[in-house]
This record gives sequence, C-alpha cells and structure tokens, in this order.
Amino acid sequence: RKAPPGVVVIFGASGDLTERKLMPALARLAQFKRLPDEFRLVGVARSHLSDDEFRQRFPTGPAAEAPGLVENMRYLSGDYDDPDTFHRLRDLLEGFDKDAGTAGNRMFYLATPPQAFVPIIENLTAAGLNQPGSPTGSARLVIEKPYGHDEASARKLDERIHQGFEEDQVFRIDHYLGKDTVQNVMALRFANTIFQPIWNRTWIDQVQITVAETLGVGTRGGFYEHAGAMRDIVQNHVLQVLALALMEPPASFAPEALRNEKVKLLQSIRHPADGDIDRIAVRGQYTRGGTSGDLMPGYREEQGVDPLSRTETYAAMRLDVDNWRWAGVPFYVRTGKRLPRRVTEVVLQFTRPPHLPISAAQVTGLQPDALILRIQPDEGITLRFGAKVPGHSFRVRTATMEFSYESTFREESPEAYERLLLDALIGDPTLFIRSDEVLQSWRIVDPIIEHWANSKGRIPLYEASSWGPDEADQLLSRDGRAWHNPGGR
Ligand code: BG6
Repeated sequence: RKAPPGVVVIFGASGDLTERKLMPALARLAQFKRLPDEFRLVGVARSHLSDDEFRQRFPTGPAAEAPGLVENMRYLSGDYDDPDTFHRLRDLLEGFDKDAGTAGNRMFYLATPPQAFVPIIENLTAAGLNQPGSPTGSARLVIEKPYGHDEASARKLDERIHQGFEEDQVFRIDHYLGKDTVQNVMALRFANTIFQPIWNRTWIDQVQITVAETLGVGTRGGFYEHAGAMRDIVQNHVLQVLALALMEPPASFAPEALRNEKVKLLQSIRHPADGDIDRIAVRGQYTRGGTSGDLMPGYREEQGVDPLSRTETYAAMRLDVDNWRWAGVPFYVRTGKRLPRRVTEVVLQFTRPPHLPISAAQVTGLQPDALILRIQPDEGITLRFGAKVPGHSFRVRTATMEFSYESTFREESPEAYERLLLDALIGDPTLFIRSDEVLQSWRIVDPIIEHWANSKGRIPLYEASSWGPDEADQLLSRDGRAWHNPGGR
C-alpha cells in the first residue's frame, strides 16, 4: 500500500501532537517507502517559525533521506481567523500541483485545540479548499478529538463541517482504531469459528474493559480540566473497543458495513435514568501517592489544575446492552490516570459449569474461565481455564494458555498514527469514526457527565498508584463480582 501523490497540510503544526505523533508517523511512512516522490508536507500555525525550524522538528534518521521530502517541507505562519492565511495556503498548494505533481490531492489535518476547528473549516471552505485541486483530485479533512464536548456541540460542529465538506471527505480520528490489537478483536471474532458460538449471554457472565494509565496529566492540566476521564477516554477509545467487541458480525469489512454494526451496538446501550446513575457510575480523582522515593503529586497539585478541581481522573461504570445477544450481561468499563499499571484489556469471563462432578475441596483455586484480550502492552491473548493438578488425587486449578504477538509474528506493528495517516491518504474510512457514531457515543456519556456536574457530593479520591476509589470496587461487589486487576491489587 502506497499513498498517491498529494499534500498533507497540518494545522497546529507547532504543537505537541505534530511533533510527538504526526511527524514520526510520516517519517515511518517515508522510511518504508509508502510516500511517493510527489508528496509534500505543509505546516500551518500561529507561531512564527521558519521553514528550516519546522523541518528541524522532523525526526532524523533514514526517513530524512527520502529524496526531496524534508527540503520541500513548508511552514506557513498565520491566523486561523484570517482569510489571508488560506489564500496564501491555496497559492502554495496550486504551486505544488503545477511544479511537484501533487495532482490536486489535499489532506487537511486539524491538530489544533478544538476552538480553532470551526474557523479553519470555514476559511478552508471560503477559499475553495473544500474542493479538490483537480477534477481527479481529493480534498479530505482529518479531525482529532475532542469532537465536541457533548452531543449538542458535536452536532453543531457537524453542521458547520457539512456546510463545506461532504461526510465522505471527513476522517475523524480515534487512534485506538489504528492499533493492530484493536483490529485483532475483529480478526479473532470473525476469522474464526470457535469463538462466535460462545460470544453471547448464554456463555458470557460479564465483560470488563480497562484502559489504565500510570501517567498523571503531566503538562496537559489546562486541557484536562475541561475534559476529565469520561470525555478524554470513555467517550472515544473505550466505547470504540466495546463496540468492536460486542457488535454483530458485519457482512464485510467494507467501511459502511462495519460502521453500521458499530452504530447499531452503540444505539443498544441503555440510557441510564438520572436516579440510577449513582448506582452504575463511579468517578474518582487521584491524590498524592506512591512510595517515598517516587512520590507523585495529587491531581489538584498538577500544573494548570484548579486546587479545588472536581474533574474526574478515573471513571468506571456498568453498561447494559439491550439486545438479544447481550441482554442481562453486565459490561464494566473503567479508565484512570495514575493507576498501578499501564494496561488496556478486554476480559470476557464465562459462566460457571452448571454442575461439577467433583467436590468443592477439589477445585479450590479454580477461577471462572476467561478470555483476556491484551490490547497493550505485552500485546496478546490469554485463555484462562481449569486444569488437573499433577498428582494422584483429582484436583483442578486455574491455568492459562498464552498467545503473544511478539513471539508469534516477526513483523513489527505500524504505529497507530502511521496506519491511520496512510488510510486517510489512500481514502479508506474504515478505521475512522462516522458522524452518527460520535453522536451515539456522546448520548451514552452525556447523562453521566451532567449528573456529576450537578451533584454536590464530594468526588471520591484514590491514591496515585492504586486501582481507583473504593466505590469502584463496590460497584462490582454489589453485583457479586470483582475487577480483574492485572498484577493483583
Ligand atoms: C489520548 C488521551 O487520546 O489517549 C490521553 O487524550 C491518553 O490522555 C492517551 O494518555 C492514551 O493513548 P495510548 O495510545 O497511550 O493508550
């Protein structure tokens, strides 16, 4: 797979995402010869940078030697509200089409803070840049999250976008979909026969999805204060992984076939009544913690954070999916910063055997069967089951079967952004979020966020480097269940 000729224009080019993710992703694409000679990169931002200063942000190494790539990079400094910025951009792009063979293909990547989305989109449209630069060319818009801050604002943003761009020109990024292990959820379910028959309420007792991070908010306190764990991770990454794990089998992996199934699943998630929210959802905020050698500040002590902040850095909830496959099965999802381990996993726990032909004493240490999909790190799958303990007596204990990506496949996985950038350049929207998916996802989290914003009660606290507030354990123990904590408590 190779990108066609064209230009990528990054708005927010002097920012953190460009340097940390986008430039390295383009560098890898160049290194593996997935960019043609007729490829150009333009950075746009308010800060004053020279072309050379912008080029210096590109990683050094084999990619930098791709002929013409780095020396042809251009930087345009300008205001996103100023039509002149976009006239200069248009001239630059027309010049590339004429002199560099970029064929009228343009991809505009919005890596700016969300306040800049609408002015950029409106000015692109006013300058005619919502149209391809040639009759056979393309004009695409790639948008980073946060995509609105609730359903109403996401809807408004869509309206503004659709005044200039058709939905098939819009590529909304959720970088989790670019991870090979997230895509493997589909491979596991739909390229095999053995899992599908047990993938339902008859055999599955509960599902847990954890997105745990050890990092705190770092230097992003100002941004995070307005987001919180629900908007930052649950509305997008968690619900996307959940949708892939629970949706019905699509007839094909054609973009719309797949996205239709995800939307149907999201639509089936129960909308909690306000009176139920305290029973099904828990939030938390980390306080100072860790060991004396490695003492970590509390959230309210972080840079850019209000010392009285009530923003959640942890969220857990029980979701219910009201359809034939899943009725009655609880789905517990959680995410948090400053948890003891960085791990993203999906745990499907199976029902207990209806009858054990041996005594309780013979099965001490036997946990329920489970299939654990480890998205990251140590990418792989664990099957947990009961096995006979060697010896003269008949005793059964839990054992595991392990599949590891690293030791099974020699190939290295592409980085999530590398994969998604190439897909967008090629024009494949399969792994991007469609407008109706975004709206459905907000519909699920909005009532909970609103309930928390209006509630006067204190926000539950948890010590940095612990597995979240006690209330999250109670959420499951009330249902007679417990979290699967990798590495123990
Ligand atoms: C981002 C969030 O979308 O995902 C960050 O804004 C978070 O807060 C990050 O740290 C996690 O991504 P990954 O790929 O490291 O799991």
